[in-house]
Amino acid sequence: MNGKFITFEGGDGVGKTTQVALLADALKSMGLTVKTTREPGGDVVGEKIRNLLKSCKPSDMDPLCEALLMFAARRDHFVKTIKPLIDKGYFVISDRFYDSSLVYQGVLKKISFEDIMTLKKITIGDFEPDLTIVLDVAPSVSIERLSMRKLILDEYDLMKKNEHDLIRKGFQKTAEIFSFRSVVVKAAGSEQKVFSRIMKIVQERIFR
Ligand code: TYD
Repeated sequence: MNGKFITFEGGDGVGKTTQVALLADALKSMGLTVKTTREPGGDVVGEKIRNLLKSCKPSDMDPLCEALLMFAARRDHFVKTIKPLIDKGYFVISDRFYDSSLVYQGVLKKISFEDIMTLKKITIGDFEPDLTIVLDVAPSVSIERLSMRKLILDEYDLMKKNEHDLIRKGFQKTAEIFSFRSVVVKAAGSEQKVFSRIMKIVQERIFR
């Protein structure tokens, strides 16, 4: 089987990291070679850029500077990790990809859709995920999950409820725009319940 690229998107606290791990285990148990990764990050350069982003207060960083750093990290991640592994037949699963830039730097920080798509074109060309799972949950649930997960929330986590609303709507919109590769999955309920919804979509979209 050819390599595939599956991305998980959604607001903070929707449960992407757990679902990435569950899907990786399921695919491995089917005998597939799997690599899980994340953005910003993934490789040496990406992780350094992630640390840089996390060490600055979001309010201190110019939005375009932030978008450029996200795409710099993404370019390196794509060239050094994602593309070579897909070419080798891996199933690469990423916790976030460029839809996150459209929502966080686009919708939230007001960089235009066209400008983000220009950065996308320059850095990764026409490349697209084979499947994007957009986890969708009410902000009250994601905020509660975030506060259970960490004792100390960083500034990215401490977004106000209206920002969670904007982010949720932003991902619903990207799922609509990129409907050829995106499926919105209800992320309320137990981890196993959410995972069975995801696995059904993976079976339909990837293995049929
Ligand atoms: P992280 O702690 O990994 O959050 P999560 O588990 O919710 O993914 O931090 C990643 C943060 O970076 C998250 O708040 C979203 C943000 N981000 C962007 O603003 N733009 C991007 O392009 C990406 C990939 C992430």
